[in-house]
Parts: sequence; structure tokens; C-alpha cells
Amino acid sequence: MKYAHIVGWGKGVPQRVMTNNDLRALVDTSDEWIRERTGIGSRHVAGEGESTCTLATDAAMRALEVAGISPSQIDLIIVATATPDYAFPSTASLVQDALGADRAGAYDLSAACSGFVYALSMGTDVIRAGSANTVLVIGAETLSRVVNWKDRNTCVLFGDGAGAVVLSGSDQPGGVLSSILRSDGSGGDLLIIPGGGSAQPTTADTLERNDHTIRMNGREVYKFATRVMDRTVRELLHKVGWTVEQIDLFVPHQANIRIIESAAKSLGLPMEKVFTNLEHYGNTSAASIPIAIAEAAEQGRLRPNDKVVMIGFGAGLTWAAAAVTWGQPKLVSRSQRTAQRLRYNVTSVRSRLLRSLRRIEGKVFGGRSED
Ligand code: UT7
Repeated sequence: MKYAHIVGWGKGVPQRVMTNNDLRALVDTSDEWIRERTGIGSRHVAGEGESTCTLATDAAMRALEVAGISPSQIDLIIVATATPDYAFPSTASLVQDALGADRAGAYDLSAACSGFVYALSMGTDVIRAGSANTVLVIGAETLSRVVNWKDRNTCVLFGDGAGAVVLSGSDQPGGVLSSILRSDGSGGDLLIIPGGGSAQPTTADTLERNDHTIRMNGREVYKFATRVMDRTVRELLHKVGWTVEQIDLFVPHQANIRIIESAAKSLGLPMEKVFTNLEHYGNTSAASIPIAIAEAAEQGRLRPNDKVVMIGFGAGLTWAAAAVTWGQPKLVSRSQRTAQRLRYNVTSVRSRLLRSLRRIEGKVFGGRSED
């Protein structure tokens, strides 16, 4: 049986940053309230020409560069997102095209804030089953496009961004060892975008009611999150035979610092072993865990053979956890790395040019131009 190792990681976030003070121009709020109740200080917000696909592609290109893998080596691309560019085609197919991953299958996975851990688990299983050897797993969101900027209960919480990992099959034991995927659909109405789907297609009335934006019962979601985190992590540890003390890094979904601190406390995990970055990104849903992983790796907080536990929770309701032994990236020669960097630069310029072209087409023709 093959093991699925994480051999590459990367993030892609919009340049534009919106601070808590910036939000005061939109809703009745304060930096103090947002920091105290959530731990968030600022968030990145997508600008013109940016979308879930462009952020996902940026994150993917960085992850491929770290892994020293070319796009044509990818067998499968899974994009976990609740904010796809379109209902169809899938964002994963758009990313596949932007990368030039000409041998890859591609699909989107919808499990809201738990989506990345679900996708990591699915990617691992196809590698274990022998159907694929290299899988690109991405969590990407542009939540700024689906928040109601007049609702202070939600608009202060979310941010945009993407994180990606490359999973590679190996005979060497380790990598993604085990996962737990759960759902309780009876809580679906606690966190929902009610309009725009087949149940309630977009009409002038749904737009008027802002049904195309996020509705959340914050208190109930808070209670659900604190309830499931402790017991799910303990169940996962039991499955892989680890103790809480053996966890080297805990990477929880970055929704609220109070939820994270409460889970760490009930698990008996010191905060030094908990990775948090929500102060700078807010809640980026499916992107929060892979962005955190990329940053932890960049900051040297992940060493080979470290025991890592990730847990996501959110709309569905869904929750999911994974236990990972941190892998060693493949040793890539200097010339391979240079070639990879060149490829990255060319792909990056290509996708920027395409984005500009689409913008110009949109302005000149009000849609796609004729060839
Ligand atoms: O990723 C998906 C998972 N989502 C989550 O994990 C979110 C979980 N929930 C939470 O993180 C918290 O419930 C929130 C951060 C959303 C809210 O914190 P809270 O401590 O539960 O506040 P609350 O909803 O109970 O509201 C307390 C007060 C209310 O005023 P009154 O009714 O007490 O007068 C709100 O109207 O705070 C008010 N409030 C605000 N005040 C200033 C709500 N939002 C704001 C705001 N600025 N942005």
C-alpha cells in the first residue's frame, strides 16, 4: 500500500488588506469588539480580476514549486470551496487549465470550512487505492463575494485566500495517516446561503432579501464547534495511537481564537503547540487550514516526522480531522528547482495576462469577445 505524503505547500492571498478599522466605515463595529470576540485584526479581500480560481492557482503554483513537481505530473486536482467561480465548470477544472496540468482529473468538493480536510482525506484515499500518485489538494475561497457587507454579525469575520498541498505516493510509511469525516445536516440552517441554488433560485425578491449572502447563528455554531473539537481529536488520536502530549502541532480551522483556546484547554494542549494566524486572515473557510499549514512550514514550525493534527468545522454542519506525520519534501536538484521556478514565472505571467485580457474583454464587449 502507498502512503500519501505532503511534499509541497503554498498560499495565495489577495493583496488588498481590510483592517477592523476599515470596517467601521461599513457597519457599527469596533476594532476592540472584533479582536476581543474573535481574535481577528485584518483580512485579505479579493480585488478586480481576482477570484477563487486565481487565488487557488497562485497557491497551487507555490506548492508545486516547493514539491519540485511540474503541472503535467499531477494526476488529480481537488478544490475544496464554498465559493466556486461558477456553479459549473468546476473551479478545479479552471485551475487545471491555468496550471497546464494536462494529465489531471479535476473536481470541486463542497464541505464548507471542513472542505480542506475532506479533500485531503479523499486525495489520500485515491493514492492508497493506487488510482493516482500525485494529487493537488486546494482549499480556496472568496467569501467577500458572498457576505452581506451591511450585516455586522458576519461581515467582520470572513476573508479571502487559498492554500494548497501536493500529496505524493510513497512506500515510506507516514504522511496522512488517518482522518475522521462527519456531518450533522440537521444543523444546516445555522450557517447557510439560502438563495441562488435549486431550492431557491435567484429572483429579484431573493436579491432584495440578500438571500445570496451568508446567514449565521453565531452562538449555536460556536457551541457546536467547541462540542465537536475535543471529542473528534480524541477519537482521531485513539485511531492512530498517539497521545495529546505527542502532538507537535495542532492546526485548527481559524474561525475564532476563543474556540481554538477552548479546544486547546479541554485537550490539555499548550498554546505553543497550536498554530494560529486568524489575526491576519480572518475566517477563510476551506482555505484556513492549508494557509496555516503553508505558513507553519515557512516559519519552520513543521519538521520532518512531526505529528500534526488538523481539524475543520463549519456549515453542513460538517467537521473533519486528520492526523499527519509531516513529510520531507522530495530532494530537488538545483537545476530542477531553477526549471521549476522558470515554469512558475511563465505560468504566473500567463495567468496574469489572461486575467487582464478577460477584464479588457469585459469592458469592451460586455462579455467574451468573438474569436
Ligand atoms: O467557519 C464557520 C464556523 N463559524 C464559526 O465558528 C463562528 C462561531 N461563532 C462565533 O465565532 C461567535 O459567535 C461570533 C464571533 C460570531 C459572535 O460572538 P458572540 O460573543 O457569540 O457575540 P453575540 O453574537 O452573542 O453578540 C453579542 C453582541 C450583540 O449585541 P447585543 O444583542 O448583546 O446588544 C451583537 O449585536 O455583540 C453584537 N455584535 C457586534 N458588536 C460590534 C455582533 N457583531 C458585532 C460587531 N461589532 N461586528
